[in-house]
Amino acid sequence: METKISEISDGIFRLSTFVADIAPPAGFTFNQFLVVGDEPLLFHTGLRKMFPLTHAAVGRLIAPERLRWIAFGHFEADECGAMNEWLAVAPQAQLAHGQTGCMLSLNDMADRAPRVLADGETISLGGGKRVRYIDTPHTPHGWDAGVLYEESTRTLMCGDLFTQVGDGPALTEGDIVGPAIAGEDMFQYSSLNPGMATTLRGLSKLAPRTLALMHGPSFSGDGAAALRALADDYARRIDNRRLASDETRAV
Ligand SMILES: [Fe+2]
Ligand SMILES: [Fe+2]
Repeated sequence: METKISEISDGIFRLSTFVADIAPPAGFTFNQFLVVGDEPLLFHTGLRKMFPLTHAAVGRLIAPERLRWIAFGHFEADECGAMNEWLAVAPQAQLAHGQTGCMLSLNDMADRAPRVLADGETISLGGGKRVRYIDTPHTPHGWDAGVLYEESTRTLMCGDLFTQVGDGPALTEGDIVGPAIAGEDMFQYSSLNPGMATTLRGLSKLAPRTLALMHGPSFSGDGAAALRALADDYARRIDNRRLASDETRAV
């Protein structure tokens, strides 16, 4: 396995590792994003067992011990499995996650205390970079779910949203909604919930120029339209499920 590095926005690098054995024959990517400011931030730590690969990839961009912030979408192995390995190699590094995730998991599982981020709270990284944390509970999954938005480049690091299979380009201007719908059909990974479409339409108001997908290419273009289209598809799924349960009740 190798980890490919691409700059997807000014100063934001995608570290992508393709695993052919997951969802064959298409395979599956795991992507981390390094935001390079005076205080570098890594969004997703990578799997614990992939730490040597991710560590080497970060080392091609910055001295890994310079890492200052570690953030991720929700508590799961691919999002944060290597958090303690990162805390060990980067003495200044601190986890930053939402209140729910810190309370549920990080206060116990992390080797150093996390910084607890309120919904909408920002961290200035220096070098013109500033990230905003946004709670997205249960969307696409995980009570503690959230996303991170880099304001200067209008890049939304959207975690598992828009998950797709395959090893596409690092950055695309093509359709990411169709492949995301196919990914949802295949994995059924989302916690369909009544607030989901509203949450996604809320994110669309950021009008992101780049969407940084954890599992798939990054998208350059009208991020708001893509988020609204994804919201519409989830609304359709939720309506269908409600209809099915009404029919079951009526029998
Ligand atoms: Fe996940
Ligand atoms: Fe993931």
